[in-house]
Amino acid sequence: MSLLRVSGISVRIGGLQILDDVSLDVPEGRIVGLIGPNGAGKTTVFNVISGFVAPTAGHIEWRGRRQQWQPHDLAGAGIARTLQAVGLFDSLNVLQNVVLGAQREQHTGAGSFLSSPRMRRRDRELQGRAQSLLEQFGVADAALRMPADLPYPTRKRVALARALMSDPELVMLDEPAGGISAADIAELSTLVRAMKPERSVLVVEHHMDFVMGVCDHIYVLDAGRLIAEGDPASIRDNPAVRVAYLGEAAA
Ligand SMILES: Nc1ncnc2c1ncn2[C@@H]1O[C@H](COP(=O)(O)OP(=O)(O)O)[C@@H](O)[C@H]1O
Ligand SMILES: [Mg+2]
Repeated sequence: MSLLRVSGISVRIGGLQILDDVSLDVPEGRIVGLIGPNGAGKTTVFNVISGFVAPTAGHIEWRGRRQQWQPHDLAGAGIARTLQAVGLFDSLNVLQNVVLGAQREQHTGAGSFLSSPRMRRRDRELQGRAQSLLEQFGVADAALRMPADLPYPTRKRVALARALMSDPELVMLDEPAGGISAADIAELSTLVRAMKPERSVLVVEHHMDFVMGVCDHIYVLDAGRLIAEGDPASIRDNPAVRVAYLGEAAA
């Protein structure tokens, strides 16, 4: 059963064709990779799904129904996203950052400023859940630290914990392995694999080892077009994929 379907998406910005007829499918309980050289359009695919960028053609389906989300609808729809640039709030400590990921359950509207016993209990529950997610991601010690004081790989783990706070059906990860060491990548692979089958994951990543190790199915984007799709083994052996990556290495 398809959870998310991207159907024939094209994006033109300022006369540039950034995406050209891109279609991909994220089934329930699967980890799907989107790979390709820098500038291929991977983040733009995420931005179209999230409603940050309007496509010039094509549409998005969620459980078989057409959707056009605004960025603030995502958590409510059951989707969480991490950003390529980590994106933690520097003025909040780690625990507070993770609690904020519970957007779709936060009390809002009239009376939310009142600190009723019920709300205090709710806040304690959210903090408890945030703390256990930090434990799950191996960074519980950092709960009361400020993000800016933490090493980059730790911040990336905090961002993953925050993404799970809303109990999403789909987790979209933009370069979770970017800028971290091989040992950290191996641990990260285990953490991401553990997200299924309860959740689906759509992951943009540059690190071939990571992608090959975690994904059930991979799409390859080059200069805004899909050039290949398949399981990790077939992608590894695909000549067009090799050219796209080797071409980049040579450049
Ligand atoms: N808002 C924008 N305006 C103009 N060009 C953009 C915009 N967003 C992305 N691009 C261009 O689109 C291409 C794809 O970008 P991006 O999706 O970030 O690639 P990737 O994530 O694969 O590295 C790049 O050439 C980038 O410069
Ligand atoms: Mg990108």
